[in-house]
Amino acid sequence: MAKPTLLFFFANLIFPLFIITSLNVSPIFCYRAWRRPPFPYRRPLPPPPPTPPQPLPHKISTVLIFGDSTVDTGNNNHLSTVFKANFPPYGQDFPGHVATGRFSNGKLVPDFLASMLGIKDTVPPYLDPGLRPRDLLTGVSFASAGSGYDERTSTGFTNVIPVLKQVDLFRRYIERVEGLVEEAQALEIVNAALVLVAAGTNDMTFNFYDVPSTTNRRAEFNLSGYHHFLQNNLGIFVKELYTLGARRMLITGLPPIGCLPIQKATRNSQSCVKQQNKDALSYNKKLKKLLPILQSELPRSRLIFGDIYKPFLEMIRFPKKYGFAEVSRGCCGTGRSMERSMLCNRKTPKCHNASQYVFWDSIHPSQATYELASKRILLRLLPELT
Ligand SMILES: *[C@@H]1O[C@H](CO)[C@@H](O)[C@H](O)[C@H]1NC(C)=O
Ligand SMILES: *[C@@H]1O[C@H](CO)[C@@H](O)[C@H](O)[C@H]1NC(C)=O
Repeated sequence: MAKPTLLFFFANLIFPLFIITSLNVSPIFCYRAWRRPPFPYRRPLPPPPPTPPQPLPHKISTVLIFGDSTVDTGNNNHLSTVFKANFPPYGQDFPGHVATGRFSNGKLVPDFLASMLGIKDTVPPYLDPGLRPRDLLTGVSFASAGSGYDERTSTGFTNVIPVLKQVDLFRRYIERVEGLVEEAQALEIVNAALVLVAAGTNDMTFNFYDVPSTTNRRAEFNLSGYHHFLQNNLGIFVKELYTLGARRMLITGLPPIGCLPIQKATRNSQSCVKQQNKDALSYNKKLKKLLPILQSELPRSRLIFGDIYKPFLEMIRFPKKYGFAEVSRGCCGTGRSMERSMLCNRKTPKCHNASQYVFWDSIHPSQATYELASKRILLRLLPELT
């Protein structure tokens, strides 16, 4: 009896092993599958319903914007200045095709930031007389096209609101918010707001490069001296915002100024003006060093350097990668000469598709550029700001 039993035992053991190995399936896998209890029986889960795109996790529900035309959503409409963009073709790709005063064919970085944060689709200008309580609580722009950290940039001939004077508007804003909610809550709103500060380009172009040297800052400062002067003002500005309650601030550096079509045109250069790009890089390097120092002087503040130089230059260098076909001239106008503001208007020739242009006019980026830049800024810097 012993022999057949033993044989039977081996046959039972070896035969499955034989099948398993000949099927090229791991015996261990089979063992595990066999060991897994068949009960309780689990009904396979139905596929999850498609989830709508979720806003990034954050605690930001207000955006406050300061600076120049790159972030002015229409304040200059309410000033007596020639620096306006409230006529076509500005705004041709904005919802409703309205010229809101934004210096582009569509939305600007503040709008994209606010919508990516799930706050609202567009950020109104503070000087808009029709602001509703909700507009105030979710944030506005105090920026003014043509302005800079140097008051001379704004007061010489442009008559717009210098960055340091934008603090006065901010003060009035806070008073209005205090009229809507309790004072402590108003302070909380300002504390938690994302503050974006974008300026400096006009200071360099109006005061250092383009205006005749007898009246510009070149007569007073060398390059590093002027950078120092601007960033000293920037520091004063940041401290004032801090005193008023601002804590989270994203402060942008300079773009590759030498690649702006207007700078190339005034230098009669086909390629980017190297020296001006080099200058912008040295300004950025200084600012990147300054911000941590300021932050350490301002308890519980977050001062983040927003690098726009790199993404911008990448779009100019590798346009195809970003869906652009034209990088050296603006869509509105010939783009080669001085078109800006009044010089980009209804009668100016314009391109067929602004999305294929990095620049909308001879100075200002197109909506497509702003959208790409916003995505990049937010994805990289939001974790640092929240
Ligand atoms: C710029 O000017 C400052 C004084 O205003 C001087 O100390 C510095 O050496 C100058 N820099 C250059 C590169 O000439
Ligand atoms: C404009 O160009 C963009 C980017 O190349 C493209 O996606 C879009 O379809 C174009 N629009 C029109 C109206 O041709």
